[in-house]
Amino acid sequence: ARAENGHDLWLRYRPAAAGEAAAYRASVGVVAPVADTPTLKVARAELEQGLAGLLGERRDGGGQILLGTPGSSPRIAALKLPLDAAGDEGFRIRTLTDGGRPLTVIAANTDIGVLHGVYRYLALIQTRQAIDRLDLLDAPKVRYRLLNHWDNLDRSVERGYSGQSIWDWWRLPDVKDPRYLDYARANASIGINGAVLNNVNAKSDSLTAPYIAKAAALAGTFRPYGIKVYLSARFSSPIEIGGLKTADPLDPAVRAFWKAKADEIYKAIPDFGGFLVKANSEGQPGPQDYGRTHADGANMLAQAVGPHGGIVMWRAFVYSHEQPDDRAKQGYSEFKPFDGQFAENVIVQVKNGAIDFQPREPFHPLFGAMPKTNLGMEFQITKEYLGFSTHLAYLGTMWEEVLKADTFAAGQGSTVAKVVDGKLHGYSRTLMAGVANIGTDRNWSGSQFDQANWYAFGRLAWDPEASSEAIARDWAAMTFTPDRRFTGPAVKMMMGSREAVVDYMTPMGLHHLMGRSHHYGPGPWVAGGERADWTSVYYHKADKAGIGFDRTASGSNAVAQYAPPVAAAFSDLSKIDEKDLLWFHHLPWDYRTRSGRPLWDELVNRYSRGVKAVDGMQATWADLSPYVDAERHGEVATYLAIQRREAQWWRDASIAYFQSINGLPLPKGEAPPP
Ligand code: GCU
Repeated sequence: ARAENGHDLWLRYRPAAAGEAAAYRASVGVVAPVADTPTLKVARAELEQGLAGLLGERRDGGGQILLGTPGSSPRIAALKLPLDAAGDEGFRIRTLTDGGRPLTVIAANTDIGVLHGVYRYLALIQTRQAIDRLDLLDAPKVRYRLLNHWDNLDRSVERGYSGQSIWDWWRLPDVKDPRYLDYARANASIGINGAVLNNVNAKSDSLTAPYIAKAAALAGTFRPYGIKVYLSARFSSPIEIGGLKTADPLDPAVRAFWKAKADEIYKAIPDFGGFLVKANSEGQPGPQDYGRTHADGANMLAQAVGPHGGIVMWRAFVYSHEQPDDRAKQGYSEFKPFDGQFAENVIVQVKNGAIDFQPREPFHPLFGAMPKTNLGMEFQITKEYLGFSTHLAYLGTMWEEVLKADTFAAGQGSTVAKVVDGKLHGYSRTLMAGVANIGTDRNWSGSQFDQANWYAFGRLAWDPEASSEAIARDWAAMTFTPDRRFTGPAVKMMMGSREAVVDYMTPMGLHHLMGRSHHYGPGPWVAGGERADWTSVYYHKADKAGIGFDRTASGSNAVAQYAPPVAAAFSDLSKIDEKDLLWFHHLPWDYRTRSGRPLWDELVNRYSRGVKAVDGMQATWADLSPYVDAERHGEVATYLAIQRREAQWWRDASIAYFQSINGLPLPKGEAPPP
């Protein structure tokens, strides 16, 4: 049997069972020749490879598959299929007959649209859907669907848990690792259309000529797959590599530096996507160093790349040098006043929550609050705060929860998804970015199940209203087996997995209670040091009397950053969902929760529930061994054992710590921490 290590991701194309394959072969035909363009050649090759793998080499049912655009294929033009709704990247798949023989048409306005259609067509077979009568049109709802690699030039990856950076900077541009092609295929298959190559904590070196040449080599490899490269730009580059004394965005020499730099990059990479910038955050340089604003900084860069069609993604993850009374308020406070002042080709990139990618955060209050500024979503695919790559946590549910949250910005139904896809405010440019979890590990993501997070990110960027459960089902079927005896329990396990992590790490709205700086394992006792808002005690505020961060009017009043109906619901103890309780409220330990239990007992109950959930995941996975190859099954089982041990660690350490503060006994039946 072929060794399975996960390198193929969800593009495994393993043979369908004989009966199934025969049925598919009746409607699938031979692939007609395509026009001679790089992308159509790639599309045809992928289709051939996929069909050969899934259905075998012989497909002599007499049918045909026709790929292309009306512009390059007279046969497709003659069919006059309406394609307007397919836009620049979408496609239409239509089954017809031609002289009594089955004809499947995968048509689009652009070659990239055709490629996306090919991947969809293959996914239909991979997930064992019917393909004999199709009329399917699909197009992405978000324009920029980007991975953000936090990859350093020395190949270390900030918050990376899957080996080194896959960018082999040393050997680029001459050596193009074949892995770059697989990377491009995987991304194209889920519609990701851009990659920011380097860390947001950027080095200016990445903008020097040698690195531009390296980025150009990657861009060339990705181009047929519709993936553009972007770079993180360090704001002080004019000083470090431009020989200037300042990086003041209003200084003419600084503006000239950036314009020349943009021109230089576009000369090497004509379709360069643009810059991502982390400025005035966590010690990074920025316009505020010169008394200028985020808008001044972003607009200067936007002017440099604008004439070439590029964009600037300016991050809203900022916090000032002064230690704030409530860090959750910082992003909103610094950006909201500038609504309407950013250039058209700037997108302000906002993390899903106001703190920092915690296992659960309420949606960021900037969503819905900046109708005149393009706002994009930043999710974190790498699991910095959810147990790195050894804890199984499917993040599709977390992202869906945020995207479905209602901002009430323009009345009920103003979901975050509608902000992000631009419909609510009529944004000219829309963006969803995901901090990548990709590295040199053979399985790319450090664990088999973390591949699902890469996959789900792509699917949600394409359609922010998609169902995380449907996505999980497709992924599980493509990655392991479409056998329902596998996908049923596996998807159920995935759907509950993130909630288990929330329970054993930070139940009921608790947050930021992990070990200092590495962010692994419990650290609710973390106090002192450089900044109060890098400690745990700042966030849980536990004392003898109670626990939680009061963000209502009696506390930091962060709730006021939300639209009034949302603020009212978060403030009102009878309305707030208990999942967010201690994010917004400081409550006595004996506060009566909806279960009837006092708060302390409820917290302990949830910690234990999280541990039990991991027991359940282990049992489920053990039962699934008949459906999974030994190597991948064994790896997942081993990781689950680590997760089980560490869930217990989180529970025990958290309970013991809080007991040291409140002096309360454990509820009946709860095992004491060792
Ligand atoms: C988190 C993370 C950092 C990262 C930062 C960011 O704080 O721990 O490693 O640089 O987010 O998003 O900029």
